[in-house]
Amino acid sequence: MSVDEMFARAAAGLPCWIRERDRRRRRLPLQRWMGGVTASSDDRRVDEAVLDLCTGATLDLGCGPGRLTAALTERGITALGVDDSAAAVALCRARGGIARHQDLFAPLPRTGRWRHVLLADGNIGIGGDPLALLHRTAQLLEPGGTLVVEVGPPDAIQRTRMLRFETDAAASTWFPWTSIGSTALAALAKPSGLRTVHLGTTSGRFIAVLERQ
Ligand SMILES: C[S@@+](CC[C@H](N)C(=O)[O-])C[C@H]1O[C@@H](n2cnc3c(N)ncnc32)[C@H](O)[C@@H]1O
Repeated sequence: MSVDEMFARAAAGLPCWIRERDRRRRRLPLQRWMGGVTASSDDRRVDEAVLDLCTGATLDLGCGPGRLTAALTERGITALGVDDSAAAVALCRARGGIARHQDLFAPLPRTGRWRHVLLADGNIGIGGDPLALLHRTAQLLEPGGTLVVEVGPPDAIQRTRMLRFETDAAASTWFPWTSIGSTALAALAKPSGLRTVHLGTTSGRFIAVLERQ
């Protein structure tokens, strides 16, 4: 099964699971990703906290169905979603967001001139290589611009796992995904010229803000 199929199921209100190799699977937070009335009040509070940190032109990397891209646009803020899933990009556009269907490592407009880059909801895990992702983020930001990124608890170590999406009838190929706490992320981000300037907690989730020097 593909990521596009996963988002098609999300849009239809059907469940999907994520399995870590040799472990039990757990349900994907598709309602959180879809946003709107089906998201929990805790999820909505975290979204509001993230949105409040974006006050200028914002690039939403791995935007998924685009609830944050669209919400920023509604607030009158220039926002561009980027996702390599065509289904995710279609969902983002359907709710009024502007989005590009491409790999976030491929050339992007306004490189070096974004005020904020968003890595929401675990997206620091994309590709299983947070160092490369932080380097890419630093390229995209203007000096003084910020990366707004959800991280694990401060003491959580960097951990890369092989994951796959599942339904009861199908499974995707395995892909790497990394989780990391704020302290480890701060150390990893330094060589890219990103410095942690804020760590906030909302509904038990951690949002770090790193400024490009
Ligand atoms: C965990 S989902 C998060 C979705 C979204 N940020 C949200 O909060 O709803 C990760 C998203 O990253 C996208 N993605 C993964 N690798 C990518 C890449 N290299 N370039 C662009 N998008 C990518 C996936 O298609 C997926 O939509």
